Order: sequence, then C-alpha cells, then structure tokens
Amino acid sequence: MMAGRIGAPVRALVRRSPRLNAALWDTQYALGLWGYLDEAGDGAVPLSLIETWAPHPTILDLGCGTSANLSFPRGRYRHYHGVDISRRAIETARSLDRPDASYAVADIRAYAPPDRYDAILLREVIYYLSVAEAADLLRRLPGLLTSRGRILVQIYDVQRSGQFVAVIRDCGLAVTTWLPPDAGDGAPDAFFVLTPAVAES
Ligand SMILES: C[S@@+](CC[C@H](N)C(=O)[O-])C[C@H]1O[C@@H](n2cnc3c(N)ncnc32)[C@H](O)[C@@H]1O
Repeated sequence: MMAGRIGAPVRALVRRSPRLNAALWDTQYALGLWGYLDEAGDGAVPLSLIETWAPHPTILDLGCGTSANLSFPRGRYRHYHGVDISRRAIETARSLDRPDASYAVADIRAYAPPDRYDAILLREVIYYLSVAEAADLLRRLPGLLTSRGRILVQIYDVQRSGQFVAVIRDCGLAVTTWLPPDAGDGAPDAFFVLTPAVAES
C-alpha cells in the first residue's frame, strides 16, 4: 500500500495540520499515486452489502477519494455524498457527473454532514487517522445514521492494520465481518459492518 512509502513519523506530524495533510494528499493525487485505486475491482461490493440492510440508500462516503472505483448504478441509491480532504480528488469525483450526488472538501475528523445516512462508508481511510482519532470518529458516526443506518468499514490489509481492527471491534457497535468469497485463509481484505444497538439485525 502506498501508505508504506511515507514514514510513519512524518505522517503523524503532517496529520496534525489539516492544511499540510490536505496538501500532502493533493500532491499524491497530482502525482497519480492513487490512480490504481480507480480501477480497483471491488467497486460493486459496498452497494451490494448496503442493500442487505437499506435498499435504495442514502450514503455518506468519508475519505471518498475520486470515488471512481465505486459501481453505483443510477436508481439503486437515493443520494451519495462524498467527502475528502483532497480538493483534487473531489474535483475528479465531481467530474464523473454521478447522478444524485454531492461532495465536500473537508477533514473527516471534524466534518459535520448536512444529513443523516443509511450507510456511512470508511473505505481504506481509517488507517490514515491516529488510533485515537479513529476511535473518536467511530463513537461519533452512529449519531449521523438514520434509524436503519449502519457503518461499513473497508480495511485493505487486516493483518497490517491490527490496531484499527481492534478499534472497530471495541467501538461498542455490533460488528459483522464480510470477506470476499475468493479470498483464501490469508485474506488481507475485509469489510466490517457496524450496527448500532437500536438498528434491527
Ligand atoms: C487510500 S485513499 C482511499 C480512497 C477511497 N476511499 C477508496 O477506497 O478508493 C485514502 C483517502 O482518504 C483521504 N483522507 C485521508 N485523511 C483524511 C482526512 N483526515 N479527512 C478526509 N479525507 C482524508 C485521502 O485524501 C484519500 O483520498
């Protein structure tokens, strides 16, 4: 993963400043370092999973990147709202002209969205926060869900992201794990569905 190319101490320092953090992500997008994500093959998974608890959902995608890798056919969702700290990524997302969509350039650590959502996505983003920030975010997100809402967290490599998997498991929400069917025993990729206690299972 590209994250490994930048030293952890530098990342921690940059992360403290939203402006520096945004500039770093913009630079990475400008250099095309994340272009490969746009062709990533699991783009249909998030909506298929969401439809198991919320057909025709409203969706908040935190740290959405360009969102180009999401397969969201027209009519299968009510509204998509993508948020990313990188202005450049959001410009690309807007240029896709996805129907029924809106976007915001913002730091998800402090972002207050305009609505409540049936699904909140955190795809490949939680490990760009500190462990404490990730825990804070997961405590806050249930307040942004509709009564049928759930949170979907995608982790690229669960073995390397053990601390964040622990945060997910300890966040006080019911957790179910979905692994891609073709993944073997050493499957690095996982989706975690977090259900607040009030939601029906
Ligand atoms: C690995 S990319 C994943 C993009 C997209 N979610 C996907 O799975 O294709 C991580 C994204 O998180 C965004 N990001 C990192 N820290 C953020 C923060 N504090 N607030 C908002 N976005 C952030 C980056 O700009 C980047 O677009």
